[in-house]
Amino acid sequence: MAVRPLVQASDPVLRRRAQRVTSFGASLQSLIADMIDTMRAEGGVGLAAPQIGISQQVLVIQLPEDEGEEEAKSGTLYVLCNPKIVRRRGQEEGVEGCLSLPGFAGEVPRATMLIVKGQNPQGEPVRIKAQDFLARVFQHEIDHLHGGLYIDHVEDPDKIWAVEPAEVDEEAL
Ligand code: NI
Repeated sequence: MAVRPLVQASDPVLRRRAQRVTSFGASLQSLIADMIDTMRAEGGVGLAAPQIGISQQVLVIQLPEDEGEEEAKSGTLYVLCNPKIVRRRGQEEGVEGCLSLPGFAGEVPRATMLIVKGQNPQGEPVRIKAQDFLARVFQHEIDHLHGGLYIDHVEDPDKIWAVEPAEVDEEAL
């Protein structure tokens, strides 16, 4: 296990559609372990493989335990391969930052309820219902797997602003 360097914001890997995971062997397990280590070391609540330069459809998410405990199942570690949003409901604006765009935050409209299907690290099918901030983080990370960034959804330039890196830590995805 290791903390891997984050790619630079200008790296084209962040704008590429990531490949579906087809092999659930040792190299995937090692990638997942490194992604969890990197997410925690960077103080993020989510990380997608392209953010460390790996163009594979893998995401990890773990919210702090004290955040929206009841609805968001905070503290649970989610690891998902080949995720697909199969249902979405509601819309709400909320603040997001991104480990790939340090120093900025923005206000982004997102669905408030999602059902996501995908595969766990063993390749077995899983279905996750996510609400509120957890749903936001899933949408943000799934965007990364399709070459998207949160800034693509910001409706007005006034809704992106510079922050001190420390300020965005809690919302960094
Ligand atoms: Ni991000």
